[in-house]
Amino acid sequence: MELRLSREQAHWQNRTRQFAESILVSHAARMEQVGAFPRELLMEMRANGLMGIPIPKAWGGEGADFISYILSIHEISKVSAAAGVILSVHTSVGTLPILYYGTDEQKKKYVRKLASGDALGAFALTEPQAGSDAASIRTTAIREGDYYRLKGSKMFITNAGEADTYITFAVTNASQGARGISAFIIERDCPGFIVGRAEKKMGLHGSNTCEITLEDVRIPVTQRLGHEGEGFVIAMGTLDGGRIGIAAQALGIAQAALELVEGARIRKGDSLARRRRWSSSELDLFAELTTQVEAARLLVYRAASMRQAGLPCTKESSMAKMFASDTAMRVTGAVVSMLGRQGCTDEYAAERLFRDAKVTQIYEGTNEIHRIVISGSMLR
Ligand code: CAA
Repeated sequence: MELRLSREQAHWQNRTRQFAESILVSHAARMEQVGAFPRELLMEMRANGLMGIPIPKAWGGEGADFISYILSIHEISKVSAAAGVILSVHTSVGTLPILYYGTDEQKKKYVRKLASGDALGAFALTEPQAGSDAASIRTTAIREGDYYRLKGSKMFITNAGEADTYITFAVTNASQGARGISAFIIERDCPGFIVGRAEKKMGLHGSNTCEITLEDVRIPVTQRLGHEGEGFVIAMGTLDGGRIGIAAQALGIAQAALELVEGARIRKGDSLARRRRWSSSELDLFAELTTQVEAARLLVYRAASMRQAGLPCTKESSMAKMFASDTAMRVTGAVVSMLGRQGCTDEYAAERLFRDAKVTQIYEGTNEIHRIVISGSMLR
């Protein structure tokens, strides 16, 4: 497999790295301390063309390829995993499904605004009683003439409250199981669309996660995304791409943790580092962790290039997400231990990276679900 980046991909990698190191870094510190959603940061991301990286120019985006976008999520997440998930959810699961499954009218109405950053996107699938078993959602959408009435509730919705549009899944025909689910584009201002309080999370401070209640939300049929009954396939197809974004986020967290260890070594001249001599077992561990991060990178790049080529990539996306997030957890845990006291305090970012890493094993499909997807695709 060719691993050299194209000029365009290298351009996006450098462009987002510069953005992350010069602009994002100060917002990231504030997000972590205050925990508030970073509206000003989104303005900066918008000004720097980051809100629609893989969206064609004709639809208001930057027209870059999917790999460039994944490299960008990785660079952003190295500095702020919270900013990484805001951008990944907005793009992969909040905007791209409209581009892939929407009518021209829907694209005109929504994709331009989302890709330019004039609007923020979200994805509402999970429910209080339906997380891993996504086909068992209970939110209903009952058709009445040219309208649907949606009732139910959604949980753990990233960007909720801040997002302008929500790709929302509801049951239109309960007797059809997964084939009875449809997708809708819901605007935040719809009467009956109620955003609950933000969850207090162990990590990713600054990214919003809320419950949403749909209290008889009435939307026109023109807001349905795809055909009636196509919603589950849209959700799964969308998540095939979304999970590569989360894998890139996890890779960014893992790499940032490794760089902390390298930074501690570089500071050898000062008194802290003079005291820090890595034992041979720590050096062995560091070698293993570095190798594991490189292996995760290869899985992420492979899944992204398959997605870019339009090839089926369900298994590869699950492998990348599972392996990269397990790697992030292993690396950040080991780095907290290697840095000792500094690892446990906010003197270094290790403890934040450790807290941020955990959810990457859980959202966009738990790693237990990904094991089922991978083995199912091999042994079915
Ligand atoms: N692409 C297209 N179609 C797909 C598909 C895919 N990747 N996967 C399944 N399908 C289709 C199947 O072909 C099948 O179609 P037919 O009826 O025509 O045969 C249909 O969908 C049902 O498929 P399954 O029988 O395999 O579905 P299932 O009920 O067994 O569920 C599952 C499979 C993989 C466990 C699924 O429920 C799942 O992915 N669960 C995890 C949910 C999840 O990831 N949630 C994330 C929420 S979003 C989020 O977390 C965002 C955030 O905040 C960061």
